[in-house]
Amino acid sequence: MVKGKGIEKAVIPVAGFGTRLLPATKAQPKEMLPIVDKPAVQYVVEEAVNSGIEDILLVTGRNKRAIEDYFDYAVELERELESKGKTELLNIVRNVSEMVSIYYVRQKIAKGLGDAIYHAKGFVSDEPFGVLLADDIIDADVPVLKQMIDVFENHKGIILAVMEVPIQDTKLYGIIEGKKIGDRLYEVSNLVEKPEPMEAPSNIAIVGRYILTPSIFESLENTPPGKNGEVQITDAIKNLAHKEKIYAYKFEGTRFDVGEKLGYLKANIAFALKRKDIGKEFKKYLLEVLKEAE
Ligand code: G1P
Repeated sequence: MVKGKGIEKAVIPVAGFGTRLLPATKAQPKEMLPIVDKPAVQYVVEEAVNSGIEDILLVTGRNKRAIEDYFDYAVELERELESKGKTELLNIVRNVSEMVSIYYVRQKIAKGLGDAIYHAKGFVSDEPFGVLLADDIIDADVPVLKQMIDVFENHKGIILAVMEVPIQDTKLYGIIEGKKIGDRLYEVSNLVEKPEPMEAPSNIAIVGRYILTPSIFESLENTPPGKNGEVQITDAIKNLAHKEKIYAYKFEGTRFDVGEKLGYLKANIAFALKRKDIGKEFKKYLLEVLKEAE
């Protein structure tokens, strides 16, 4: 059973190799690639902070040290900016290291998303918690994790963010089977990780936002490797269906998969167009380029 606690902790797995963006990710974490001028991981951390999260655990791996440096103080840089009177930049840089408490744990072997989340067992203890996948950046008026926390208030249980996808794309996502119980809400009876379209129970796909309950850890201990030989969080959630309520929530917002080339480019364009400083000029440029390309 889920206790009546709020959601104060979140886990962000960042141990993945980023193979879909090679060679850019050969010597740097994919989470550090910029969307306009902020690393991808910062968008996700900001979503968590703006959803009321107080403590964040980043599950890292080898070659991910740049992420830790990024959220640390940059003493020399700050001194330099201060002495040159560049106060605005100094505040931006400092704010990154002060916006939230971040903890780190390393996943030594990449054994799958389920295994990465299992590394949060000690951090989470006995509270429900959020999980945000850094590949999924979602542009939304209300942060998606906040939307889910609001759902959790009245529907204590596991909550998965979902969206409809073209049926030929089911093999890219965890897919749910469920009964519609509200405008944007489903009660989930089954989940399948990356099924072929023929085997997919629906076209409702899980995106990288979850509210999980601590019972997930015991379930993960009993979940054998699944799709691609990896321990899948989808399987561990499915194994809880007999004892926990599982809900799927169709979030409001636009999601970009920044872990692959096209999604990464789309995110850059969408966020650049929204910027007060460069948006107008960028739009003008894009229109010119499109006209020439016709
Ligand atoms: C992971 C999950 C999958 C989910 C997806 C959302 O897959 O395993 O269930 O639909 O994230 O982005 P990945 O894309 O990391 O292979």
